[in-house]
Amino acid sequence: MKTYQQFRLNPKNLGSALLFLFALALVPIAPSQTPSSTAAPDEATIHQRADALLKQMTLEEKLGQLNQLFAFGPPATFDDAVSKGQLGSLLFVTDPAQVNHFQHLAVEKSRLHIPLIFGFDVIHGFRTIFPVPIAMAASWDPAAATKAQTVAAKEAGAVGIKWAFAPMLDIARDPRWGRMVEGAGEDPYLGSAMAAAQVRGFQGEYIGSPDHILACMKHFAGYGAAIGGRDYDEAYIPETLLQNVYLKPFHAAVKAGIGSAMSAYLDLNDVPATGNRWLLQDVLRDDWKFTGFVVSDANSVKSLQNHGYAKDVYESALYAFNAGVNMEMALGFTAYSKSLATAIERKQITVQQIEEAARPILETKIRLGLFEHPYVDEARSKQVLATPEHRTISRQVAERTAVLLRNEGGLLPLKKDGYKKIAVIGPFADSQVDTLGSWAFQFDLPETVTILAGVKNAVGSRAEVSYAQGVHVQRKFPSFFDQIMRIPPEVPWTEAQSKDEFSKAVQLASSSDIALLVLGEQQKMSGEAASRESLDLPGDEERLLEAVAAIGKPVVLVLMNGRPLDIRWASAHIPAILDVWYPGTQGGNAVANLLFGDAVPGGKLPFTWPRDAGQIPIYYAHNTTQAPENQGKRYWDEESTPLYPFGYGLSYSNFAFSNLKLSHSEIKPGETVDVSVDVENTGASSADEVAQLYIHQQSGSTSRPVRELKGFERITLGAHEKKTVHFSLGNDELTYWSTATKSWVEEPATFDVWVGADSTASLHANFNITH
Ligand code: NOJ
Repeated sequence: MKTYQQFRLNPKNLGSALLFLFALALVPIAPSQTPSSTAAPDEATIHQRADALLKQMTLEEKLGQLNQLFAFGPPATFDDAVSKGQLGSLLFVTDPAQVNHFQHLAVEKSRLHIPLIFGFDVIHGFRTIFPVPIAMAASWDPAAATKAQTVAAKEAGAVGIKWAFAPMLDIARDPRWGRMVEGAGEDPYLGSAMAAAQVRGFQGEYIGSPDHILACMKHFAGYGAAIGGRDYDEAYIPETLLQNVYLKPFHAAVKAGIGSAMSAYLDLNDVPATGNRWLLQDVLRDDWKFTGFVVSDANSVKSLQNHGYAKDVYESALYAFNAGVNMEMALGFTAYSKSLATAIERKQITVQQIEEAARPILETKIRLGLFEHPYVDEARSKQVLATPEHRTISRQVAERTAVLLRNEGGLLPLKKDGYKKIAVIGPFADSQVDTLGSWAFQFDLPETVTILAGVKNAVGSRAEVSYAQGVHVQRKFPSFFDQIMRIPPEVPWTEAQSKDEFSKAVQLASSSDIALLVLGEQQKMSGEAASRESLDLPGDEERLLEAVAAIGKPVVLVLMNGRPLDIRWASAHIPAILDVWYPGTQGGNAVANLLFGDAVPGGKLPFTWPRDAGQIPIYYAHNTTQAPENQGKRYWDEESTPLYPFGYGLSYSNFAFSNLKLSHSEIKPGETVDVSVDVENTGASSADEVAQLYIHQQSGSTSRPVRELKGFERITLGAHEKKTVHFSLGNDELTYWSTATKSWVEEPATFDVWVGADSTASLHANFNITH
């Protein structure tokens, strides 16, 4: 029997399985169509249909629904199991012909004709790639995230993938953790808004809406707090942070109707999330009334042994099953398939429990219309994938995600005819794969527009645009995603080559009128298994930046990144810095539009930007403690304030906030305070601002953070236009989990309110809650 270790998703032992995936990934996507149901589901009917099925199913068939395997390997590997109803789902099948192949076996060969559900990591697009999730969060525009995930759902659905393993809702307050790129950053309020927005995008109005698919919130829960920022490592999260911060976006997704959840890899307070009944039953089902199903993360059931929690595969299966994991995702074989039947024989679990676990999976398949329309129309996908409309939406979303960090002397926007020679320099300036970001698999490289190409498109014949890579950067330890993404192994530069390329880049800058440097991290430097111990610009990037700046020509730094980087030097010496994240398929055109003023940056940071890694963790919603006047001088060798605060981002225009008004100076618990503020664009061109509302509860049964985001709205204002923005503060915003009382409380206290352009907003008012 193969052991768990042989099947783990890690570079050492993925080996042959990934080669199969590689082969699969090379299969071109054929056109297809996935029909969807057209009417909202009738709950009673769904329930009855699942009941009727369960009555007819053998124990083996019921158990089969609980198994999900990576479809790595020749299809024949899975044919038998699918035909016998021993699998409920496959993941990583992306070719509609293969979807149909397996579905025919499931529907025509299996006794009860129960279709499979195909799942995939549709994280920020399927074929049309959108900006990475942290970028979507930086848009502070939930509607943009909804739009992006609507397109992603449509494209994935068109090839038969009815289940996206997204959104990732892990709060990340430690940017060493590579998966910060996949989430919405540090804040539970912004994270919740982005969670609900993405659920709407994937699922539409209801599960089974035409052209939509099932969403899966992950990784439940606490994964983002991995100790030391080291991916997969344990997290210790105190109750107050769990309830008030880490669980919040998940609860928001449940309220938005999400249909599935993925358990996390980590050990949460010494209980692995995948075996954590408190999380999966007490919180998720009992408190939040979640009625969907839980899938484990890949191999996380079998890995309960690695945690020193279960003693063998059998016990792993029992722990996960009893905790509330409905479906096990695994490579090779599931612990469930090896153990649960025996556990019934041994009377350790009951058939009724198996039925309860299988029921929401069957109900989801019914909701999705899979029984009526199991197959995809292979001819349709060509019409759906990467349509001009989808590509336009991708560009528009990318334009909304960029954050302008610095713009001394109004260097940006650039004039298209202002420069005869433009130097575009840096390892990511002409890299299609880096423009896309991590967690993109089904992209088409030739349709990806790099920044170099975008700048050329924008200036046309008005300027000569030249390129030099300048430096080569790479990970010390390679990423196992290279194989999945079909990226050939990297060849490091020799010393001579490095010198030569470096000086070519500097020469190019000195013979040009302006230098655009595209620096940051390779896409594979963030994502899963992509943690790092420093935040430095990798390799010789900073040296290149300094050498180019020393020439004295105007320099713009364009950052590609999934986490904040140590740009202290740049923030003091480079006049213009634009953070474009990994902007996706149309990234180059979007960035060029921003650089040349056809679009105006309006994004804001979804995390606190530290000066360097030594400040981590740093987040704005910390508590006030002894000597708050020294908050910025907690270290003797460096400021303890951030380089850029949470919510920060500049525009080409300027905005003024005034006239902050509260409807009440005093309310009772449960009542609402309406807040209004005037926002004026004081500049001469149309631009966006994000009005952000923060509160602080001055006293209570526990200490409260100095500030907490409790409202925001991104608005567009024409030149000199003024608008009034409204917020309301009610029970949802004013209640928190008190570790003193072990309950949700809304306490009598004075509350500060600030509204402004970032988390340092100074326009202030206050009100009281009295009993
Ligand atoms: C492991 C990752 O943690 C998870 O996010 C992903 O959805 C699964 N693998 C499937 O690829």
